[in-house]
Amino acid sequence: MYPEFCLERWQSLRDWRAKYVISESGVEPLELSDFHVNVKFEYGHTKGSPKLRELIASRLGRGSEEVIITNGGAEANYLASLALIKPGDEVIVDMPNYMQIPGILRGIGANVVYIWRKEGMIDLDELNQLVNRKTKALVITNPNNPTGMAMSEREMKAISDIASDRGVTLIVDEVYRGSEFDGEKPSFLSFIDGVSTNSMSKVYGLPGIRIGWTVAKKELVDRMWAIRDYVNISPSVIGQEIAYEALLKADELKERSREIVSRNLKIVEEVMRREEVDHLVEWHRPNATALAFLKLKGVKDTFSFAQSLFQNEGVLLNPGECFEMPGYVRIGIGQGDKETLRTALTLTFRHMKSWSLKT
Ligand SMILES: Cc1ncc(COP(=O)(O)O)c(C=O)c1O
Repeated sequence: MYPEFCLERWQSLRDWRAKYVISESGVEPLELSDFHVNVKFEYGHTKGSPKLRELIASRLGRGSEEVIITNGGAEANYLASLALIKPGDEVIVDMPNYMQIPGILRGIGANVVYIWRKEGMIDLDELNQLVNRKTKALVITNPNNPTGMAMSEREMKAISDIASDRGVTLIVDEVYRGSEFDGEKPSFLSFIDGVSTNSMSKVYGLPGIRIGWTVAKKELVDRMWAIRDYVNISPSVIGQEIAYEALLKADELKERSREIVSRNLKIVEEVMRREEVDHLVEWHRPNATALAFLKLKGVKDTFSFAQSLFQNEGVLLNPGECFEMPGYVRIGIGQGDKETLRTALTLTFRHMKSWSLKT
């Protein structure tokens, strides 16, 4: 049985009714008029457009046969999980997590084992101890959703070394790659021959085109391709044309994403100062993504808090319960105008103060 995908269901039931949406996970979306595409609406190639696969592969120093284009990062993660994991396999999952892959794994009947980050880092000794004969794969999300933290290259290498030494396949969700504030870090694939999933939805501001991809050994990618034939035949042809054009100006779009997020992070800090919430809110300033993960010290049940904030103030954010971390909320800082963000945060902090007094 697939568990309910808490985060996606939470949002889709509410985002169209909210006045202030600070639950989005990417930066302000681009529009069709930003592109010059003209396509014939035929079926696309079922493994994905050859020129798009070639472009993605060349940037990673891989062959185009090692890339499959997918319907978003979501399908990339789905195909990767289905192609690799069998019922009863044990899979270690980096927590906190966006929770798509753990949900799929449970749906497949795999045994999910969490490794919780400490101070934002994976404890290498603990990882070594968790790996055993039954461990099939290690799932990492880097840069991380919900924490907004990107790993250092040293940490990436150390984790990759453990996975290679112990014969564990690394599946890494890299949909936020390129959002690192101090410049893009290498893919995990430069440290280990694992599986990397990615997407146009976050730094490129194109969630609506539903284009993502998986890169792995050809034999594994072809297994994903075989599954895809049964699911949706091919990714959207217009989406792939837009993705191709966007990737040709990838650096410019990544810079745009960083600028939006860094401007908005300053607004978060400014509102926190003005509302004097230092003693009530604990957070690690993110170093990547378009997200911030805040611990609300006076709020234990953040699910009820988020529901009350939505009903009473029209502000939508994501409760930590959807990441199995009650007491936290995730806010999206990549979208909307500055005033909307200011108002949404002000309402959130004021609601939090009155909530802390009530409970
Ligand atoms: C870590 C992570 N992986 C995958 C996805 C899904 O990406 P897409 O919208 O491209 O399907 C998301 C979306 O929020 C995400 O945050």
